[in-house]
Amino acid sequence: MNKIIARFAWYFAHIYILKAVFLFMLHADNLIKKYSTFTVVNGVSLNVEKGEIVSIVGPSGAGKSTLLHIVGGLDKPDSGRVRINGVDMLHLPAKKQAHFRNSNIGFVFQFHHLLPEFSAIENVCVPLWIKGTGKKEALSRATEILETVGLGGRLQHKPSELSGGEQQRVAIARALVNKPSVIMADEPTGNLDSANAQSVHELFLQLRDTFGHTFIMITHNEALANMTDRIFTMRDGKIVDEVKSLNSRF
Ligand SMILES: Nc1ncnc2c1ncn2[C@@H]1O[C@H](COP(=O)(O)OP(=O)(O)O)[C@@H](O)[C@H]1O
Ligand SMILES: [Mg+2]
Repeated sequence: MNKIIARFAWYFAHIYILKAVFLFMLHADNLIKKYSTFTVVNGVSLNVEKGEIVSIVGPSGAGKSTLLHIVGGLDKPDSGRVRINGVDMLHLPAKKQAHFRNSNIGFVFQFHHLLPEFSAIENVCVPLWIKGTGKKEALSRATEILETVGLGGRLQHKPSELSGGEQQRVAIARALVNKPSVIMADEPTGNLDSANAQSVHELFLQLRDTFGHTFIMITHNEALANMTDRIFTMRDGKIVDEVKSLNSRF
């Protein structure tokens, strides 16, 4: 009897590992992050499928940004695992990890962090220049992606010459230009009025529907969270609730 149970356990463990490697675009397992005695992320596991848009909501201080930074490779957990497209990202050597992050993950923050002296198109070119893409190709890809986010007529504008919504679209274009597998956004509309916030969320949906991008997004806006496929609620470092949207394809 024990043998049969052990066999089943072995079988299910393998199915789970294969799923983590091949099915989930992102697989995070039992992440823990402490600052001295304070546990900011307390045993979080989550899976995200390719093309899915998930949101993380919860009170300020719940650990949402810390979690996003860990799954995006910007911060290290004390323990746990993160696989993106099957790659065990946290255990890559530093240089490989930076390269993996630059090619696979795009970040969008509440404050756009655009370079003020650079035009929209130059700001979008920055990740390509870092990667060593040639000037001509970089400009052509940046133009294409700025057109996709509706800014084809603003290529030469500096950030100060753009509205808040347009600045955030440039930041989204910059996050997309390396064709990442996943875009991680930390309160991307927190600084926008409701019309601009709505339009940025619609842009995320459009990008997912057209190009199959995957999004993990922290938001305080309940209506906008409800537009996503799944909503995770985080409190005191843990995911305490997970709700699937009625419209979800996943
Ligand atoms: N570098 C740090 N050192 C100490 N405490 C930190 C650090 N970063 C975040 N924290 C604490 O961790 C908690 C969670 O922070 P954060 O992940 O930013 O939460 P959220 O994004 O949900 O508002 C907060 O109480 C914050 O003060
Ligand atoms: Mg935060």
